[in-house]
Order: sequence, then C-alpha cells, then structure tokens
Amino acid sequence: MEIIEDIAKMQAKAEELIIEKATRGFVPTMGALHEGHLSLARRSVEENGVTIMSVFVNPAQFMPGEDYDSYPRTWDEDLHLAEEVGVDIVFHPTAGQMYPPRRQTTVQVHELTKNLCGMSRGLGHFIGVTTVVAKLLNIVRPTTAYFGQKDAQQALVIQRMVIDLNFPVKISVCPIVREDDGLALSSRNRNIPADLRPRALALREGLSLGREMIRNRVYDAQSLFNAMCVHILRDDAIELDYLHIVSPETLDDVDKVDDIVLIAGAIKIGGVRLIDNILVGPGGPWED
Ligand code: PAF
Repeated sequence: MEIIEDIAKMQAKAEELIIEKATRGFVPTMGALHEGHLSLARRSVEENGVTIMSVFVNPAQFMPGEDYDSYPRTWDEDLHLAEEVGVDIVFHPTAGQMYPPRRQTTVQVHELTKNLCGMSRGLGHFIGVTTVVAKLLNIVRPTTAYFGQKDAQQALVIQRMVIDLNFPVKISVCPIVREDDGLALSSRNRNIPADLRPRALALREGLSLGREMIRNRVYDAQSLFNAMCVHILRDDAIELDYLHIVSPETLDDVDKVDDIVLIAGAIKIGGVRLIDNILVGPGGPWED
C-alpha cells in the first residue's frame, strides 16, 4: 500500500492511473476507521482496479465549539486496517496544504443543507464538507466515490454537488453498518463514556419505534415525532439535537407519511454527538 501525503504527488498518481485506464474507487474518510469505512473500502476494492482512501480530519467542517480537537485520530491502526482490506493508496494531506493562506473559494449546495445537520450544526458545516470533497475529487479523480447512508444528508448533498458541477464521478451510497446491538458505527462511538454506551441506543430505538408505528398505519408526522421524542428523552443522559421526518429527495419536513420518508435524528450523550436514520414508507421496509 502506498501512502501519499502531497497533493501534487497524488495528482500525478491520478494522472498515471487515468492513462492506464484503471477504474479508480475512492473512499474519503476522516480516519478512526471502523467497519462502516471498511465496508466502503471492500466494496471499492471489489468494483475497481485501484482503491484510494483519503484520511483527513477536515477542520473546515467543524464549527466553533465542536469536537475537532477531540475527534479520534488513530493513524497507525487506520493504515493497518486499510491495508488489510486491500486499499492501494492512502492519501493523507496536511491541513496546511489543503487550505493554503490565500484561498477564497468554497462550494455550497443551498437547499439540501438547510435542514437536519445543516440546521443544527450551521450552514458552515456542509460548506466545509462540499468544499473538501470537491477538492478531494479534483485531486484524486476517481471513477466512483463511496459514501455511507449513515450520513444520509451528506450523501445527498454530494450527489447534488457532482451533478450540478459536472464532476465525472459516480457516487455510490452504501448501507449503514451497525454494532451487534444496532448502534450505527461512527468514529465518535469511541468517545462515548463506557457507562453510557448502552444508553446510546436511544436514538436507534426511537427510529425503530417510528417505523413500527408506520407499520401499524400511523402516518401523521406530528404523532410519530411526539412518540419518538418521548421514547428518546425517557433517558436523562440523552439530549435530543434534532429529529425530523423528511422527504428523502428534498429533505423538507413532511406532514404525512404517504411515501418513503427519511426519519433522521441526532442526539448527544456524554458530550458525544451521534446521528442515525432510517428510510421507511407505508409499505416498509420494516427492517434494515
Ligand atoms: O464523512 C466524512 O467522514 C467526512 O464528512 C468526509 C466525507 C470525509 C469529508 O471530510
């Protein structure tokens, strides 16, 4: 496995791979790799001639007061795991290279970033995400880039960005990977205090309750929201950041579940912010 830390070197490598006509799978990450990332990497390895993974904790997508400093960094373990699943190149730029002093350009997807994490973390969060992903796509020049459905809004925003800006890349969105008890895998799970870890399931349980209610033909969004909130907030260790029932295409809140909806939420537990979501409609799916 090759490690490239320099943007110009990564660009030269991408050029070489394009000349060789290699299919190039790309898995952008902020490191602290877990099975979710590894499932994306495995899929890329299966589907492409070459797999490139970036490991870059992107300061631009953390808002003031968020967990940039405490975001887990496990570089040695990341390298080991990436190699084990067959990643060919790890791109690991520095923040100084990615964000040189005289930069003036950002990328913003407008409507899709207004709700959910865009509302709770602030618009700057997604400007940070789309700007770094646009830069990474320009540097790595993949044929397919892989993102996880856990960050459903991020995946949709990036799909919109590549269409709107004509990036020649396919975006592949892969299923959420969960721990045995159902907690969605996240790098931040490592920061949940051990005594609170079982209680981190509250959001997942709330979402499952919503799905069960829809199965029992409760379609009114306010009733679903109320019941899910009551369930999640039963535990005083949980702070509810947001919970929305939205259209999976526009991310606008819906009043009624008459088609597939995305139920997405964010909680804080022990100072750690966790997100999760499910897709469900009047005809299911009833499991994920
Ligand atoms: O999902 C993430 O880990 C990050 O938002 C991404 C896509 C790597 C951009 O920094």
